[in-house]
Amino acid sequence: MDIKGPNKGGVLGDIREYMGDPWAFVNDCHEKYGHRVKLRMLHQRAYLLSHADDIMAILQEKPDSFVKGRTFKKLKLLLGEGLITSEGEMWKKQNRLMRPVFGLKHMYNLVPSIQQIITDHCQWKDQSTVNIHSEMNELTLKIIARTLFAMDLSKEAPTFLKDVEFMMHFLIKRVRTLASPPMWMPLPSHREFFAARARFDGLIESLLQQRRQKDAIASNDLLQILMDAKDEDGQSMSDQQIRDEIITILMAGHETITNSMAWAMIELAKHPEYQERLAQESQTFWLDGKLQEASFNKVNLHLAVMDEGMRLWPPVWAFMRQAGKNVNVNGLELKKGDIVFLMPFFAQRSKDFWQDPLSFRPERFLAGEREKVKAGAYFPFGLGPRMCIGKIFAQVEAKLILSNLCSQYKWALPSPEKQTVEAGITLRATNNIHLRVTQR
Ligand code: HEM
Repeated sequence: MDIKGPNKGGVLGDIREYMGDPWAFVNDCHEKYGHRVKLRMLHQRAYLLSHADDIMAILQEKPDSFVKGRTFKKLKLLLGEGLITSEGEMWKKQNRLMRPVFGLKHMYNLVPSIQQIITDHCQWKDQSTVNIHSEMNELTLKIIARTLFAMDLSKEAPTFLKDVEFMMHFLIKRVRTLASPPMWMPLPSHREFFAARARFDGLIESLLQQRRQKDAIASNDLLQILMDAKDEDGQSMSDQQIRDEIITILMAGHETITNSMAWAMIELAKHPEYQERLAQESQTFWLDGKLQEASFNKVNLHLAVMDEGMRLWPPVWAFMRQAGKNVNVNGLELKKGDIVFLMPFFAQRSKDFWQDPLSFRPERFLAGEREKVKAGAYFPFGLGPRMCIGKIFAQVEAKLILSNLCSQYKWALPSPEKQTVEAGITLRATNNIHLRVTQR
């Protein structure tokens, strides 16, 4: 099967353009060559894929033919053998232990404290201007810190947040760089990375020690659930494993939800009619201070707004797999070692799979419509066995945030501009983030 691509000659192939500005490069490739694009990076064959059938084949139908691969190996420097980076038997074991931790039952137990954090945080003056990205960043960090550690990180938060962000950007740069210097070289950035990692590890270690003291009060948080989790053989996680899972959850569960909420609010500010409907719907969520699970949990407009925001602006805009063996994907012959980049951003905006794909229309995710979405055309949380473990967590959190923001305030974007983005590991809005709030 003949698949087209930029087909740059020379030793480097397409790597220079890709490394220079990956976002511009992939957009250009998709526009010119469509859902399947062939690339070469030095000796490495790679494909950009965004056809729903190819996504289904790789993530859902033949996941055992693929591994996470090269990029994820580099992430192990920070994430260790946590769920995102581990493979094979190690992943299977951890997955069995971790999936129940993120079930609806545990999430509902956490709702009162999440709701409290949101109410405390979301206090803005009438007619003030709010940087929605930084507000969501702070809010979702408080939520994840509270749900993971049952503690208010306000004392540690500034250093903690700076450390986590620094380590993440350091790693993204290493992932993107073809030949990064080995970590044993005493470069200032390496020293800074190790210092941040040591501070982080120290914090986790002291938390674990506190919990194990005889008189420690049992906590209602994910750390406790991770410490108590046991597999079928009655084995629990080692401290190292708990540490790896905690940093993994922090990395996976903070920036993604921050961006998802910031994007949803930008779209809502552009489409105020949905804010009114959300405000009305959120009245059905609470009765005498108690969450009404039936109306909160069903497919409702809150969920549809989150889903539609992520369709247009998937927080994880691309992710990677490497063929673990020779494999045929709908006629595309992949050789062991070939890399595939799976591209939600293009699949989810394609007129091949969506009507009026560039319009914000949450109705497409309401009951009766969402069942019609083509399999593989929508995958902001991934698909198949490695699908996001925090999906329910993210949905519960998103519904609570959207309902609070829209029932207390009206949001406006006084002068919308053509959207610009920063595409790191997550897709982030770089303009249209200053929203005007009016108290209801
Ligand atoms: C809107 C929010 C979120 C989005 C868009 C998102 C997206 C994703 C995606 C696309 C993957 C699959 C990556 C791949 O297959 O290579 C993933 C995996 C994962 N996510 Fe999320 N995520 C979100 C929230 C969360 C939250 C809140 C947590 C934890 C509290 C979390 C924890 C994880 C973990 C641990 C994995 C790895 C699962 C595995 O490989 O078994 N995510 N996420």
